[in-house]
Amino acid sequence: MIGYICKLHAGMKPITRFIFLVFLAFLSGCFPQTPSDPIDKRVDSLLQQMTLQEKIGQMTQICFSEITMGGDKNLVMDPDLFREAIVSNHVGSFLSGTGSAADWADFVYALQRVAIEETRLGIPLLIGIDHVHGANYVDEGTMLPHNITLSCSFDTDMVSMAAKVTAIETADLGMAWNFAPVLDLGKNVYWPRLYETFGEDPMVCGEMGAAFIRTYQDPVHSYPYRLAACAKHFIGYSDPKSGWDRTPAEIPDQIMYEYHMPPFRDAIEAGVLTVMVNSGEVNGVPVHVSERLLQGMLRQELGFDGVLLTDIKDIQKVYEEHHGAFSEKDATLRAIHAGIDVSMACNSYDFIEIMEELVLEGTISEARIDESVRRILRLKFKLGLFDNPYPRKDRPDRIGSEEHLEKATIMAEESIVLLKNENEILPLNNEPARILVTGFAANSKKMLNGAWTLEWLGAEEERQPANMKTLFEAIDDEFPKAQVSLFETCLDGSIDSDIDFLRTCRQNDLIILTMGEEPYSEFRGNISDLNMTGEQKHLARLAAESGTPVIYVLIQGRPRLITGIEPFADAILFAGYPGQGGACAIAGILSGRVNPSGRLSFSYPLYPGHTIPYYHKAFDRAENLYDFGHGLSYSTFEYDNLRISQDSFTNPDTNLTIHFDITNLSDMPGKEVVLGFFRQEKGHITRPVRQLFHFSKVLIDPGETIPVTLTVHPGKTFSYPNKHNEMILEKGVFTIMIGGMEVSLTYL
Ligand code: BGC
Repeated sequence: MIGYICKLHAGMKPITRFIFLVFLAFLSGCFPQTPSDPIDKRVDSLLQQMTLQEKIGQMTQICFSEITMGGDKNLVMDPDLFREAIVSNHVGSFLSGTGSAADWADFVYALQRVAIEETRLGIPLLIGIDHVHGANYVDEGTMLPHNITLSCSFDTDMVSMAAKVTAIETADLGMAWNFAPVLDLGKNVYWPRLYETFGEDPMVCGEMGAAFIRTYQDPVHSYPYRLAACAKHFIGYSDPKSGWDRTPAEIPDQIMYEYHMPPFRDAIEAGVLTVMVNSGEVNGVPVHVSERLLQGMLRQELGFDGVLLTDIKDIQKVYEEHHGAFSEKDATLRAIHAGIDVSMACNSYDFIEIMEELVLEGTISEARIDESVRRILRLKFKLGLFDNPYPRKDRPDRIGSEEHLEKATIMAEESIVLLKNENEILPLNNEPARILVTGFAANSKKMLNGAWTLEWLGAEEERQPANMKTLFEAIDDEFPKAQVSLFETCLDGSIDSDIDFLRTCRQNDLIILTMGEEPYSEFRGNISDLNMTGEQKHLARLAAESGTPVIYVLIQGRPRLITGIEPFADAILFAGYPGQGGACAIAGILSGRVNPSGRLSFSYPLYPGHTIPYYHKAFDRAENLYDFGHGLSYSTFEYDNLRISQDSFTNPDTNLTIHFDITNLSDMPGKEVVLGFFRQEKGHITRPVRQLFHFSKVLIDPGETIPVTLTVHPGKTFSYPNKHNEMILEKGVFTIMIGGMEVSLTYL
């Protein structure tokens, strides 16, 4: 055919040839594009063939519960509902289900087959999922620690490891779009999604988020598939005034640029393909309709050109819940003007109808629709969905493998924080004869895995991974000579008889008391009192009264206050939600098989009314139970010899070097988290008392001294944005603080 066209073309007069070429160009729009064409060409050629309805369908994401039998998250398709979604409404994307790997593969295969074979243009679907701590919606998936735990490792390699495990366990099943990582700053400790964040420091959040994105989107791990990460929730979601989920936040531009924006900037620099919008309102404007934040900050200032997704039903909520629009149509119009590409409409097709109306009446131009559809199609091409749309079932051993469980355990070991260790009760070198394990999480997998585990609120015990140990089981295995027993309490920590509990405590040589919070998601975790519940405090008091040494293991998504009962504990571990390997990691730390190396990635408050991050201003007096960066080891590390290559600088673009030594004084190898802070002594915009500029983790052998050198680019490290996001570097004195030592540096 091509040879024939060439011959025909060669024998033509110039004018006929011209008309013929124009005709060919017209026809080419109607021919399917070929895989070797550049993506933009393929996108354009597809776009030219699409009707308005098909375009709007691509901008719509529907929940699986709308197309499954019984309307839940199971993976059994209702063919009529599905055809309504895909053939009548041209929906281009779906989200949220739960089931076995085989069910996922079959389900996604069936959906893609209809999309590809039974629709006019055969555009593959984009399937979205919240795999926020491993492939947590796959029965066989490995449940990794939640981010708050992982961030306490202060090791981006741990985050990359988590991203790789998640990518491997997700890719084959056809879920190309993962709504992770959460890049909200975990600075409001009441906020019920704190456990989904990488803690309170913008640099830690940014570097960990970027590590996740780079690894997750690296096709090497998901080959032959490609995956998209999603930086969420842009922006200012995590610091609502009331502390409750999705309630209004008031964030001055200065704070926005200095603290909330950097993690998203790092994510965009790392190449994140998609961003999800904050469901809340900031400074009186629901973010979904904020042109200032979405068009302005995200698109123009940060240069994001990927796909921008709403959070669940959030256009509708602008009208219905925020009361921030006069109708759903008004909300839709404003969200489109603000820059939304995909509406996570979930269980309603209203978005499609409204959008059609808005375009037909000329309020939204088709060019604006094309802008979003072009981004969506480009994403689908980038992810290789047109060429390789179907999931596969031939490598099931990649999901939930032994190797991944080992990695999950390593991540927990590196992250759990030893907060207190009175009289060096830990490690338990002399195995106690009788150990009692008690409290709400003593014999539960669900409590360790937390929410977003097979179900939004965490699946019931029966559905939790079979090859996982509870804390009681792990301690029983870890201490083979001890008699390990269990005293079960209710979920809220209440017990039937204080006398029985006291008696049991007295019959043991050591009490491991789990305390904290059972899994919750989003608004289901709203609280008005940060204190540990009364029932749990009561248990702690009884345990103390028994006279038996007690170790608290905190399984929780945020720092529930233990101020009054902290003195009763001989040792305290913060585990967050440590996941499938969590119990073994905790047991290993208790026995000393694992030398703890986690540090708090957030400040642990002393009082419910005084919760501020470590980077507060000089006039703010922070009084914490445990500070950001706190964490003990079984090794003792000594810092010495802090020096800097020069004590002043005039050119901020010339690198400086900071040197110091760390010695492991103990007789066991240990990992030390190195935290470098600086303070700018004075500034026209007042400066925080400390700001992290470096974190890393180093392994040091017994008795070994290691020299550490940090290279600092003063212009990048010491400058800060003003409220217009212009970077400022003011002259004056900087104090560098590392390992309890300080050194001064002056910008002349
Ligand atoms: C959450 C998002 C999540 C989405 C889809 C929303 O309720 O805020 O973080 O990605 O649901 O499950």
